[in-house]
Amino acid sequence: MDIIAEIGERAKAVDEQIMSYLEEGENQKLLLAVQHYPTAGGKRLRPVLAGAVAEAVGGAGKKAIPFGASLEIIHNFTLVHDDVMDNDSMRRGRPAVHVLFDVPTAIIAGDALFARAFEALSEVDVPAHSTRRLLKLTAHTVWLIAEGQQEDMDFERIPADELSIEDYERMVWKKTAVLFECAARGGAIIAGGTEEQIKAMGEYARHLGAGFQMWDDILALTGEEKVLGKPVGNDIRNGKRTLIVLHALHELKEDDPRRQTLLAALGNSKARTQDIENAIQALHDCGSIEYARRLALDHAAQGKKMLEMLEPGPDREFLSRLIDYSVSRKI
Ligand code: IPE
Ligand code: IPE
Ligand code: MG
Ligand code: MG
Repeated sequence: MDIIAEIGERAKAVDEQIMSYLEEGENQKLLLAVQHYPTAGGKRLRPVLAGAVAEAVGGAGKKAIPFGASLEIIHNFTLVHDDVMDNDSMRRGRPAVHVLFDVPTAIIAGDALFARAFEALSEVDVPAHSTRRLLKLTAHTVWLIAEGQQEDMDFERIPADELSIEDYERMVWKKTAVLFECAARGGAIIAGGTEEQIKAMGEYARHLGAGFQMWDDILALTGEEKVLGKPVGNDIRNGKRTLIVLHALHELKEDDPRRQTLLAALGNSKARTQDIENAIQALHDCGSIEYARRLALDHAAQGKKMLEMLEPGPDREFLSRLIDYSVSRKI
C-alpha cells in the first residue's frame, strides 16, 4: 500500500471519534465554525503517529484513539488561530474560519476546540498515573506551541541577519515539532512503554516535526495552491523568517541584486504576484531551497535512527516511511 493510502487507512478509526466531540452544543454558528476545518479533512498525521507508536511499543493502537483525537482537535484549534495571525484566507481548500465567519468567531472556535480536546483526553483508558502524565504532557505542549507561535510572529519584526539557524530551529521545534513529540511520547506512555522507549519515540518525532516544518516552508513557496489547499507565497509577504530566507540573507552579499529582489518583497504586504515570483526565483538561485531540503532530509535520517530500538514489524516500517513522507509530501 502506498504511504498516503496507509495513512488514510490508519486515520479512519480516529476520524469518527473526532467528529463525535464536535457535534454537541447550543450555538449553531459556533458548531459550524468548530467543524469547518475538521470536516475538510487534513492528513491526520498526529493521531496516526500516536496510534502507530502505541501499537509498535505495546500493541495499544486502539487505546490511543481518544488521545489521537485530542491531538488532532488541538491541531485544528491552532490552525484556526494561525490563519488569523498569518492573515491567510484559505485552508484545506476552504475559506479560512475567520474569512467564512469573522475574527471573533475564529477566536472563540479555537478556544472551544481547545476545550473539547481535553474532554477527549479525559477518556483515555489508562491507569491514573498515566492519565496525569498525558494531561501534563499535553497541556505543556500547548504552552510551548504558544511560545513558538509568539516567536514566529516576533521574528517577522526582527532583521533577518540578527536571527540564527538555531533561533529558527528552536521556534520550529516549539510551534510544530512539540505536537508530534507529544503524539509519540503519549503513544508510548499509553502502551506502557519504558522510559527509554518514551524518550526515543519523542526524539524520533522531534526530528519528524522539524523536517516536516522545513518541508512545509518549502511547499509554501514552491507548491501549487490548488493541490496544497492553502496560499503560496504569503510567507514572503508576511516576512516569515524561514530557514530558506535566513540562509539566503546570510549568503547574499550587500551588492547582490538578488538580495534587493528578495528584500523588496519580504514583509511587503503590497508585493505583487510578480514580485513574489521574483523573490522565490532568487531563493532558488542562491541554493536556499535546496539547503532547506537537505536539512529536512537530515532530520528524517536522524529520526529514523531512533526506530532501531523498536521490534521490527509493520508499525516500525510504517514509522520509517512516515518520516520519509513528511519530507517528500506534495501537501
Ligand atoms: C499544517 O499542518 C501546519 C503545520 C504545522 C505546518 P499539516 O500539514 O499537518 O495540516 P493538515 O492537518 O494536513 O491540514
Ligand atoms: C504552523 O504554522 C504551526 C501552527 C499552526 C501551530 P504555519 O503558519 O507555518 O503553517 P501553515 O503553513 O499556515 O499551515
Ligand atoms: Mg500559517
Ligand atoms: Mg503561522
